[in-house]
Amino acid sequence: METTLVVPQGSFELRRFPRFASDLLRAWDAADDYLLHHLSELQGSPGRDKGVTWILNDGFGALTVALAASGRSVQMSCDSWLAQQATRANLQENGLQDSAVHLLTSLESPAAAADVVLIKIPKSLALLEDQLHRIRTQSPGALVFGAGMTKQIHTSTLQLFESILGSTTTSLARRKARLLFSEFDEALEPDPNPYPSQYQLDGTDWTLTNHAGLFSREGLDVGTRQLLAHIPVADTAQQIVDLGCGNGVIGLMAAQRNPGAQLQFVDESFTAIASAQHNWQQIFSASRSAKFEAGDCVATLAADSVDLVLCNPPFHQHSAMGDATAWRMFSGARRVLRPGGELLVVGNRHLAYHAKLKRLFGNCEVLDSDRKFVVLRSRQGTYCSTTAVAR
Ligand SMILES: C[S@@+](CC[C@H](N)C(=O)[O-])C[C@H]1O[C@@H](n2cnc3c(N)ncnc32)[C@H](O)[C@@H]1O
Repeated sequence: METTLVVPQGSFELRRFPRFASDLLRAWDAADDYLLHHLSELQGSPGRDKGVTWILNDGFGALTVALAASGRSVQMSCDSWLAQQATRANLQENGLQDSAVHLLTSLESPAAAADVVLIKIPKSLALLEDQLHRIRTQSPGALVFGAGMTKQIHTSTLQLFESILGSTTTSLARRKARLLFSEFDEALEPDPNPYPSQYQLDGTDWTLTNHAGLFSREGLDVGTRQLLAHIPVADTAQQIVDLGCGNGVIGLMAAQRNPGAQLQFVDESFTAIASAQHNWQQIFSASRSAKFEAGDCVATLAADSVDLVLCNPPFHQHSAMGDATAWRMFSGARRVLRPGGELLVVGNRHLAYHAKLKRLFGNCEVLDSDRKFVVLRSRQGTYCSTTAVAR
């Protein structure tokens, strides 16, 4: 695997996070490389002078590490806990203190207005729209450079830059990457930022709030709806985990059906956790507490501590398709479930989660299925839940 990024700012060792020996993917893309070369070629290069650079959506820290190493004051904001951890680890790997950089969630404002903003184009157009509004209000007049792979940059991407920041041009494509250059237009009066948005959950009096970029932000996902119908009602107090919670709808419903249960919401997206927490407060107010954690699967939960894990796993992470995250969620669930505890999963039937769960738990029951989705249940046996099972 290639781990050395060589750019005009220096030569840097970069790895993805979480770190797996079998990971063959690089921790940067051609758009990072293109942008760093472009910055170094500019007169009075923003890579060298002393202002503040605000980087948004750095995948694994390539831009942050390279610019921090060239002495620039850097603030990096993103919606991914994993991206933040990758950036921290890569700063350390390259002998840079992570205190040299301000790492922020996508909902936090940078401490100081930036004079240069570098934005990696996110997959979600809604997240891009929200972030462009934040750039306009928090760093007015900054020089804004966008960077992405050509397949991620569409007419709608350019239209957002033009309608929120000002006139925007694009570079030629290089190794399937492209840059965007925006001129801040002070006179422009963009429509207000529409995020967070809300929807009414049918069959309830709940209005759910969803930050930009969230999974199924405009309404309940069809698969999620199928899982909701199978949330069990227990007669004992239970520890329940909503794993990959998004706006928290699964855990909220589990809490409503199980008034004595303790709920824990986990997601690697900061905006997901913020949305779930907000929705919990709206529905249960101060009468009931729950735990909310931005993190990787159930890594911080103790073994044998949970009765029920509810999960609608992601089928991609950092634009890499595959079931690696789902597998880590399932094996993590097996570790934290008490004997007799259950994991309920919904997924597209073509993903064959059934076979994976059977391999991990030794059992898997189909609770529901249609042409597209299956709802599955696996029960933790009485054998040692910490024994690893190879993929
Ligand atoms: C398919 S969505 C389901 C969201 C919500 N539970 C629902 O059904 O509407 C999967 C969720 O998993 C989260 N996720 C992805 N990778 C994760 C990880 N490593 N640890 C925790 N959550 C993760 C995503 O941010 C996303 O919110």
